[in-house]
Amino acid sequence: MSFAIWAALAFLLAGLGYWLLVLTEGVYLGPRVVRLLYDWGAKSYDEIKEFDVGKDAWHLAIPLERRLKDWKCPPILDVATGTGRMLLALLRRPGFEGWLVGLDASLPMLRVAREKVQGYGGRASLLWKDASRLPFADGSFAAVTCIEALEFMPDQSLALQEMARVLAPGGVLLLSNRVGRDTFFLPGRTFGREELKSLLASLSLGDVQVKRWQECYDLVWAQKRGSPGGKPPQNLSEVLLCPRCGSSLARRSEAMGCLNCDHLYPFVDGVLSLEV
Ligand SMILES: C[S@@+](CC[C@H](N)C(=O)[O-])C[C@H]1O[C@@H](n2cnc3c(N)ncnc32)[C@H](O)[C@@H]1O
Ligand SMILES: [Zn+2]
Repeated sequence: MSFAIWAALAFLLAGLGYWLLVLTEGVYLGPRVVRLLYDWGAKSYDEIKEFDVGKDAWHLAIPLERRLKDWKCPPILDVATGTGRMLLALLRRPGFEGWLVGLDASLPMLRVAREKVQGYGGRASLLWKDASRLPFADGSFAAVTCIEALEFMPDQSLALQEMARVLAPGGVLLLSNRVGRDTFFLPGRTFGREELKSLLASLSLGDVQVKRWQECYDLVWAQKRGSPGGKPPQNLSEVLLCPRCGSSLARRSEAMGCLNCDHLYPFVDGVLSLEV
């Protein structure tokens, strides 16, 4: 083969590698690769993203607080919480009285989140778990959020189905969906606006509001049909279920133990490990 052909092949391979590992963060190589890349990048994630806490308050925390004004101490789940950006935005709000759960597939990302939330008196719990199956009872949360992460879920419809399941009637869903030029690089991983609306409608989620955010995302707000019934759960133990058998879990010194199958889920650096 001539030098020109070798050079063209090398160029193509480098382009493919760049697309698979950098532009699309491993999403076409499977959930293990996505997780590995976030494990490796956890320490530099916040520096790369340059989060603006003021903007996060304005676009995420304040509108969510407003939508939850009728809930007393609302429980909120942040799916794929990463380094805890959404948790921190809510915890920093002076009037916010809810309690929070941040779930993510990457332990190193959660370790960074832990450093940020530990000064807030145990109001945020961190769970190490893939989001494909959420380890919570139906209707557990007043709000479920998933920011900059839906595109990484191995089965996005299933992930949305799970988020809708754990949301209480009248509860609020907040999602981001990649739009604009990014959709060109992510075929099959993003939703058209109408497609997403009809998928949400099929999951009993209505009153959908969409707003462009951060150049390449839509922020999507939706509400689960029905009215909130009674007092919302007061802590994680009330809603957490064993990922193996679906029974309740109880605290056992440095772990949570299943009341049915006896499996123990340890705390690792303050993060509850539900990986099974
Ligand atoms: C771009 S980061 C977003 C983190 C955070 N929500 C934010 O806005 O900064 C994507 C996150 O999704 C997590 N993730 C990817 N696939 C996941 C899955 N299947 N289950 C749970 N978390 C996942 C990654 O570990 C990473 O922390
Ligand atoms: Zn069990």
